[in-house]
Amino acid sequence: MSIFQTLKYMLSALGAFLFRRQKVVITEIPAGKIIDIGGGGEGIIAQIGADRVTAVDKLESEIKSAQAKAPTATWQVADAQDLPFENESFDNATIFFSLMYMKQLVKEEVISEVYRVLPPGGEFWIWDANIQKEGIFVIMMKIKLPNGKTVRTGYGSKDCIQSPESISEILQKTGFQIKETTTNKLWFLIKAKKAT
Ligand SMILES: C[S@@+](CC[C@H](N)C(=O)[O-])C[C@H]1O[C@@H](n2cnc3c(N)ncnc32)[C@H](O)[C@@H]1O
Repeated sequence: MSIFQTLKYMLSALGAFLFRRQKVVITEIPAGKIIDIGGGGEGIIAQIGADRVTAVDKLESEIKSAQAKAPTATWQVADAQDLPFENESFDNATIFFSLMYMKQLVKEEVISEVYRVLPPGGEFWIWDANIQKEGIFVIMMKIKLPNGKTVRTGYGSKDCIQSPESISEILQKTGFQIKETTTNKLWFLIKAKKAT
């Protein structure tokens, strides 16, 4: 039995779900001035968009660990349930594996806030985990950025079931139109657009 299989067996026994490293290739991010929600940690979107990106995260520690990787981005500690920005302040928005850390009601409030700070036609691109079961969920990832750089990292959360369908439902209820959905076993990408 390989180390991976042994680890998987042990975590399964604890009610966890561990899968092999997922390859996520980011070919592009939206144009213009972007707000990135939960943008700390690795700061993936800020690494790509640099000074086009305003990254908000409710934890200063997460911002601190990302800031050095994208120093020209704008970094702000804020709860995305109550964004400290005027209506229609950004061209487009992103969120990269942060919804999996939010309860249903928080997701709804965050998506509603993103809607508020976008203009009509503004796009919201969501990369996040496809989680089918309760318990501990861990996704190990190999993320390829448009400049060819590869980031190896992992994200984990507990008792957060979500799918492209459940997130699309919130988006549509809020007023977003779904433009495109890419679904993988463990993660998805949704491109949504604020109605014009
Ligand atoms: C796994 S990290 C996301 C990864 C990050 N986007 C990256 O590029 O590595 C999830 C982040 O969401 C943040 N977060 C969770 N709830 C939030 C909220 N309500 N408002 C702002 N940030 C939030 C957490 O503090 C955490 O830094």
